[in-house]
Amino acid sequence: MIPDQGPRDAVVPPAERLKARAHVPSMERYKELYERSVGNPDEFWGDIAKDFFWKTKHTGPFMDYNFDVTKGEIFIKCMEGASTNICYNLLDHNVLHRKLGDKVAFYWEGNEPGDELRVTYRELLQRVCQFSNVLKSQGVKKGDRVSIYMPMVVELVVAMLACVRIGAVHSIVFAGFSADSLCERILDSQCSLLVTADGFYRGDKLINLKPIADEALQKCRDKGFPVSRCIMLKHLSKETEQATPGSQSPPAKRPCPDLQQNKQTDRVRKTRPAPQVPWNPDVDVCWHSLLCGVSDECEPEWCDSEDPLFILYTSGSTGKPKGVLHTVSGYMLYTATTFKLVFDYQADDVYWCTADIGWITGHSYITYGPLANGATSVLFEGLPTYPDVGRMWDIVDKYHITKFYTAPTAIRLLMKYGSEPVHKSSRASLKVLGTVGEPINPEAWHWYYNVVGDKRCPIVDTFWQTETGGHMLTPLPAATPLKPGSATFPFFGVVPAILNESGEELEGPGEGYLVFKQPWPGVMRTVYGDHQRFESIYFNKFPGYYVTGDGCRRDGDGYYWITGRIDDMLNVSGHLLSTAEVESSLVEHPAVAEAAVVGRPHAIKGESLYCFVTLIQGVAFSAALEAQLRKQVRDKIGAIATPDFIQNAPALPKTRSGKIMRRVLRKIARNERDLGDISTLAESSVVEQLFENRCSAAI
Ligand code: WT7
Repeated sequence: MIPDQGPRDAVVPPAERLKARAHVPSMERYKELYERSVGNPDEFWGDIAKDFFWKTKHTGPFMDYNFDVTKGEIFIKCMEGASTNICYNLLDHNVLHRKLGDKVAFYWEGNEPGDELRVTYRELLQRVCQFSNVLKSQGVKKGDRVSIYMPMVVELVVAMLACVRIGAVHSIVFAGFSADSLCERILDSQCSLLVTADGFYRGDKLINLKPIADEALQKCRDKGFPVSRCIMLKHLSKETEQATPGSQSPPAKRPCPDLQQNKQTDRVRKTRPAPQVPWNPDVDVCWHSLLCGVSDECEPEWCDSEDPLFILYTSGSTGKPKGVLHTVSGYMLYTATTFKLVFDYQADDVYWCTADIGWITGHSYITYGPLANGATSVLFEGLPTYPDVGRMWDIVDKYHITKFYTAPTAIRLLMKYGSEPVHKSSRASLKVLGTVGEPINPEAWHWYYNVVGDKRCPIVDTFWQTETGGHMLTPLPAATPLKPGSATFPFFGVVPAILNESGEELEGPGEGYLVFKQPWPGVMRTVYGDHQRFESIYFNKFPGYYVTGDGCRRDGDGYYWITGRIDDMLNVSGHLLSTAEVESSLVEHPAVAEAAVVGRPHAIKGESLYCFVTLIQGVAFSAALEAQLRKQVRDKIGAIATPDFIQNAPALPKTRSGKIMRRVLRKIARNERDLGDISTLAESSVVEQLFENRCSAAI
């Protein structure tokens, strides 16, 4: 029992003190707006679109779509024919028309406390324009794909918005991914250029990013796809680098009016050993030298509403990552509107989302949504536990954060250390707390609400996906009575349904497949390069509906409760991983004949990876082999996919037709003996043997 916990089943009323200024101050107002948003989307979104800048105005219906595979190809079009540029809306529009030039866009807080930087809207605009000109000088054109593999620095936002400004399509790869994963993503989207950095620190650990990027580019070359340019930001080696002619290191930054170094920023950087950077002069170019003498003005490329905006890869249940494609106007309107209403954004807010920009949460709710609203945000490079477990709350106090958005896994991690480190901070500025990534368990919810928020701040539990672009089911802080663990009700324009196995819609309370009945502006448009896969993953199972892949329960009051994935996907620390992808990295090891991976509940990560491996005849299972396998998966996919348990499985439970019974493996991993119906199992002795040898503790 956690000391500060309130009664479990109590409904927490919406925040009284937010109502006076709130955009949506009551449930009645929510219902009224919701009815309008689904009854007359053209009018609802049309009004919202008036706040944005359009080069060519829109005419015709707001949306045009087909969600039913039996009626032909799936398509979604939003404001087609109108032209705009998101970068213009996020920066120029805010500076020129809303007079926000001097407002801080980002407070950058480095890994090391005291390492900080601030950038205003005007400065960000200048830096983005400069880098847009750099990209153009490197031959990047409208429609080209650019891969970005960078730590959480302002230049990551600069690089992404520079792509957007010139109509190029960014594909950001989380900097924790391996060389193989980066290579796979570059190849799939055929990126012509890579933007990366020398390295960064995660807590005490130095991550040498450039050598990983180099390895990925080598792998691309080996596969017949040479990426012509790699732009490297000197994030760590800036001050220390010396020019050594003919050396293998990048040229030192020539003295030039680099905006980053002079008037525009006040950067404090503690000295840390900088990495040795391998340098290939045929491909590599230095970010800083490229900026020399480059103009900070750049006319935006006007794009059609349905031009591609970005590709972001997410795990697919077959193992191959899917390139989720989002397009310009729908995504812009949806992220801007969800940000404004779900966090009840006000002009004096200081907002902080702890996600990495390498994931969709960072795309939508660090870059696009907040900037579209002219918000001030914190961009944090570090870890919640470095240099100590009070870091997050120190940052909240330092910047007077009003709206704070994080993941259940981070809350559970910090909860482990008790309330004392939290109580060292004031947190008096906080008004709204948010969570995303997985269902939040009631213990974590109560701790977040009682200890972090001092029982003053509503929690918005936002359910959504890489594919949805923005929030789908979520409370609104001044309107929705909260039930801990429920993502509550649909956002405007979202029409959820719960289907049973035969595809029938359930009325009232019930549990089944969560689907959406009609498109919303932020929905993905396709899987890049594979439209058929898009249709078969999301639309084939239940014609007429977008299928989320999540199970969901609706209670007697109409609240939605996500029950978790119903496909072979695992949710580790709020990130989806496909079991097939981990299995295929395991079987690539010469000693492994077969592998099956299932999830096992984990107190902090939500789920952990429990792997069963069948070795080839004659190979003995050993601690050394286990370590090799763990490394193999880590190297293939990245640290987030590192197996927690590896069990030697002389044989796997299979049906008579040879299908692995994962349901049984899940029970073994959890040590649950109630196996249910196992009449289809070919050989039942296998199960007993696996129970006997199960792993009890992770290494
Ligand atoms: C999957 C999407 C959306 C950004 C982060 C993850 C799970 C996400 C919640 C929530 C219950 C949630 C679902 C979903 N999920 N948010 N509030 N409650 N489950 O993006 O990697 O595309 O994963 O995360 O299972 O399908 P993603």
